[in-house]
Amino acid sequence: MSRRKIVAGNWKMNMTPAKAVELIAVLSPVVASDDVDVVFCVPSISIIPAVAAVKGTKIAIGAQNMYMADSGAFTGEISAPMLVDAGVSYVIIGHSERREYFAESDVMVNQKVLKAFEYGLTPIICCGETLTQREQGITIDFVRQQIKIALLGVSSEQVKKAVIAYEPIWAIGTGKVATTEQAQEVCAAIRVLISELYDEAVAAAVRIQYGGSVTAETAADLFTQVDIDGGLVGGASLKPDFGKIVNY
Ligand code: 13P
Repeated sequence: MSRRKIVAGNWKMNMTPAKAVELIAVLSPVVASDDVDVVFCVPSISIIPAVAAVKGTKIAIGAQNMYMADSGAFTGEISAPMLVDAGVSYVIIGHSERREYFAESDVMVNQKVLKAFEYGLTPIICCGETLTQREQGITIDFVRQQIKIALLGVSSEQVKKAVIAYEPIWAIGTGKVATTEQAQEVCAAIRVLISELYDEAVAAAVRIQYGGSVTAETAADLFTQVDIDGGLVGGASLKPDFGKIVNY
């Protein structure tokens, strides 16, 4: 089965709301594509102007995080119903920066994934090993465990719609991109895990992205691997070059 490619930009903590609107005006024409789903995951304060700015284009707006409760006394957090109401369709869950700097555990990632599905948001579920783990030869075990926990209680109909982003931590923001073989190996292992947890058809439907120092130069080789269905792009998603990545 052929999966539709999906390329998402993770803007991280960059761009003011006004700058976000300016950047979207620059990027919108260059990322236009009939073959690739394009998502801009903007800071939460820029979601509402970003949704307005992409109106009339095929670009979807994503959030970079959300909380796992519907509402309540969780100062500073944002919920799934808020994102839906604002016009968001994707949400990054469990990015390594959330895990490292904000102590997000695998269990929290699972709770957030379940909440995203409950509200019809598509989670972009992140996983990936540290350099030490790669050197210890435990990359695949580690990533399998992250994804296994993230998907606890997720139905096969839901998981078919999920996006999984394999982002080796040592490749994020370092300019050290994984080789196509390394990226393909782990993405293939994730697909095998999904077929074990669900079945072949579900595994064939799930879209798996690679992320970590993707550039216009490396996108084509990575995104044409059999188990890689696009990318989650940080730094390069803030530049007009993002158009070249989308239209690799
Ligand atoms: P870079 O593309 O800047 O390495 O960031 C990758 C990333 O973390 C995307 O979520």
